[in-house]
Amino acid sequence: MSRILQVLNGQIVHPPPIWLMRQAGRYLPEYRALRSKAGGFLDLCYDPDMATEVSLQPIRRFQFDAAILFSDILVVPHALGQNLWFAEGEGPRLDPIDASTMLPDYDRQSFLAHLEPSFETVRRLRQTLTDETAVIGFCGAPWTVGSYMVAGRGTPDLAPIRHLARNNPDALQGIVDRLTEASIDYLCAQIDAGADIVQIFESWAQVLHGADFDRWSLQPITKIVEALKAHSPQTPIIVFPRKAPDGYPKIAEIPGVAGVSVDPDIDLAWAAADLQQHVAVQGNIDPDALIVGPDAIDSAIEQLSTSLMAGPWITNLGHGILPTTPIDHVHHLVKRVRDLVPVS
Ligand code: CP3
Repeated sequence: MSRILQVLNGQIVHPPPIWLMRQAGRYLPEYRALRSKAGGFLDLCYDPDMATEVSLQPIRRFQFDAAILFSDILVVPHALGQNLWFAEGEGPRLDPIDASTMLPDYDRQSFLAHLEPSFETVRRLRQTLTDETAVIGFCGAPWTVGSYMVAGRGTPDLAPIRHLARNNPDALQGIVDRLTEASIDYLCAQIDAGADIVQIFESWAQVLHGADFDRWSLQPITKIVEALKAHSPQTPIIVFPRKAPDGYPKIAEIPGVAGVSVDPDIDLAWAAADLQQHVAVQGNIDPDALIVGPDAIDSAIEQLSTSLMAGPWITNLGHGILPTTPIDHVHHLVKRVRDLVPVS
C-alpha cells in the first residue's frame, strides 16, 4: 500500500508522504510548453494524452507520493451545460446563472460523457504509476463551485452567492442539490476509473458561519461523503475547508472523512490536539514560504514536524503552489521532508 494510503488509514508513517496542491502547473517549464501547444487550459484538461502527461510531470521531477488528476473544479458546471472559458490572465469565466435561470434537467449520461476524458486520464495514470504513487481524484464542494456559477467568475467577497443565499435560498438550494448529485456521479466515476483517494475542495467557505455553514457547506459535503462511502468504502476522502475555522472540526467529524487539508492560518497545536484524533492532517506550508526559500521552508517543516509527526500527517501546502515558485525550492522541500527522522 502506498505511504499516503497508510496515513489515510490512520497509521503514522516516517518520513511523511508529500504532494502539493496545484503541483502540475505554470511553475514548471514543461507544463508551460504543453499548455502553449494545446492552445487553451480546457484543451489540456479534455485531452487524455496531454492531461496524463501534465499529471505525471511533477511526479517525474519530484517523486511525489501522489499524482492528482489534471483538470479543474469548474469542468462540472461546464459538463452541466454552463458556458466556461479561461480568459488569459483573468482566471475562469462562466455565463452567470441567477435565480431566474432555470436549471435544465440533470442528464447523467451526457454529464458523464462530457467528462469521459478525465476518467480516461485517471485510468492511464493508474496503469502508468507503480503502487507506490497514489492517484488522487477531486471535485469542488457545491458551495465553492456554485460561487463561480452564480458570479460567473472568482469573487473575493463572495457577494453574488451570499446575496442569492439571503434573497432566494430555494434557488440556491436547487443549484447546490444539483451539484451534490453531479459531484457524487463525478467522483464515483473517478474511483471506478482507478482513483485511490478523492479530495473535495471547499475553497470559499470562509464567509459561512453557524447554520449557514451547516446548510451550504457541511450538509452537501456530508451527502457526498455518505454516497461515496456506500459506493466504495475503502477509498479515503480528504476535505479542504480552506479558511473556514468554525468548519474544520465539523468537517473532521463527518463519518467517513479520512483526511482534512489545513490552510496556513491553522494553529498546529490545535490541529494536533483536535483534528488528528479524528483524521489525518494534510498541510499546511504557506505557498509564499516556498517562494522565499530554504530558510523559510526549513522553519515551516520544523514547526510542522514538531506538531504533527506523532500522528497521521501528509506534507502539503496550505493552498495551491504559486506560478513564480522556483523549482529548486520544491526540490529543497522534498529533500527536507524525506530526511525527517522519526520522533522518539
Ligand atoms: O495540480 C493540481 O492540483 C490538479 C489540478 C487542479 C487545478 N485546479 C488546475 C488549474 C485542481 C485540483 C484545481 C482546483 C481549483 N480550481 C480550485 C480549488 C483549489 C483552490 O485553489 O482553491 C479552484 C477554486 C479552481 C478554480 C480556478 N481554476 C481558478 C481560480 C483558476 C485561476 C488560477 C490562476 O492562478 O490563474 C483556475 C485555473 C487553473 N486550474 C490552473 C491550473 C493549473 C492555471 C491554468 C493555466 O493558466 O495554465
